[in-house]
Amino acid sequence: MKLKIIKDSNPIMRKKSLPVEMPLSKEDKDTLDMMLDYLKKSQDEEYAKKHNYRPGVGMAAIQIGLLKRMFVIYYEKESGPVEYQLVNPVMLETSVKQCALEAGEGCLSVDNDHFGLVHRYYKIKMKAYEAIRGEEIVITAFGYDAIVLQHEYDHLNGVFFYDHINPSAPDKQLPGEQII
Ligand code: NI
Repeated sequence: MKLKIIKDSNPIMRKKSLPVEMPLSKEDKDTLDMMLDYLKKSQDEEYAKKHNYRPGVGMAAIQIGLLKRMFVIYYEKESGPVEYQLVNPVMLETSVKQCALEAGEGCLSVDNDHFGLVHRYYKIKMKAYEAIRGEEIVITAFGYDAIVLQHEYDHLNGVFFYDHINPSAPDKQLPGEQII
């Protein structure tokens, strides 16, 4: 089954997602598996080209129309793959230090270009039920890893990456901000 990705023009994307009932139902676990599968395929160049997928490293349930507080993440790092199915995540800590990706951010739900630095916390601590491992985990993440988690977490609250761009000074670095 091909997932239909909802775009930012759809007002549902601005809604706050609701807590997922625990223990996790088979239906919700299957949904997470489908979302993760989509991300993996989207990063397979040949498959993505053939099926007109854009590469993505994260997807929140709201992006397929489900108002549920859960998202998946998948990308490869030198140290190995980063792979999560996070349910009911809670942000425990955020750093004062900020960071931003030099090239800006993208989103499977956003087709237009949005130029500018997307200001994020450099370090975060997040707690969630992780459905691949089947247990509650606490993630401490820095830099790029922290940015991806914040981007997906934002979707649960109806926030887009471009909401963090300062429209009057889109490329202005904040004091002490690390550009990645
Ligand atoms: Ni997104």
